[in-house]
Amino acid sequence: MDLQQVFKNNELWIQEKLAIDPNYFEELAKGQSPEFLYIGCSDSRVTAEDLMGIQPGQAFIHRNIANLVNNVDLSVMTVLNYAVRHLKVNHIVVCGHYNCGGVKAAMTPKDLGILNPWLRNIRDVYRLHKDELNAITDEEKRYERLVELNVQEQCVNLIKTAAVQEAYHQRGLLVHGWVFDIHTGRLIDLGIDMAKKMEWVEEIYKIV
Ligand code: CO
Repeated sequence: MDLQQVFKNNELWIQEKLAIDPNYFEELAKGQSPEFLYIGCSDSRVTAEDLMGIQPGQAFIHRNIANLVNNVDLSVMTVLNYAVRHLKVNHIVVCGHYNCGGVKAAMTPKDLGILNPWLRNIRDVYRLHKDELNAITDEEKRYERLVELNVQEQCVNLIKTAAVQEAYHQRGLLVHGWVFDIHTGRLIDLGIDMAKKMEWVEEIYKIV
């Protein structure tokens, strides 16, 4: 792709926005008040705004390989704290996707250098759910289930944090687990029961 095209696209985009609202960028510059925090995979095929049909200003976004919420990752923890404690989002979404290269790599016995410690988080998810996963004989189905379980465990990781516990008790913040089905374009809600998960996680991880 010719990178000059990007700047041409940008000009067209500006004109489109201004045609609808001449004050669009002035309004955008005033500040943000997003409704939710979206944590997704860096995969180039899984764009956050496009697949949800949302506009700039509606979601605070963090993306990394395999949509992980790691306790010692300063980047995700900073984004989480800023979104919950300062922007006061009411929803957090963890969105995984089928055909995730990160999840696939974590199922493969191969030395991937600096990716090893990152993907270890997914191997830990596998270990936690080993019996269920090993019972699935179809490899593709097992891989898809690991994608779902990984999303579920990242939701649990969110609930382990002080920011989420505090916001849940104070104003009913909700955590959602979704999977993007790359074969159909459809978003699947994994149906995380926040109250149930909260009670279960807080038995051991209660901070607030
Ligand atoms: Co991915």
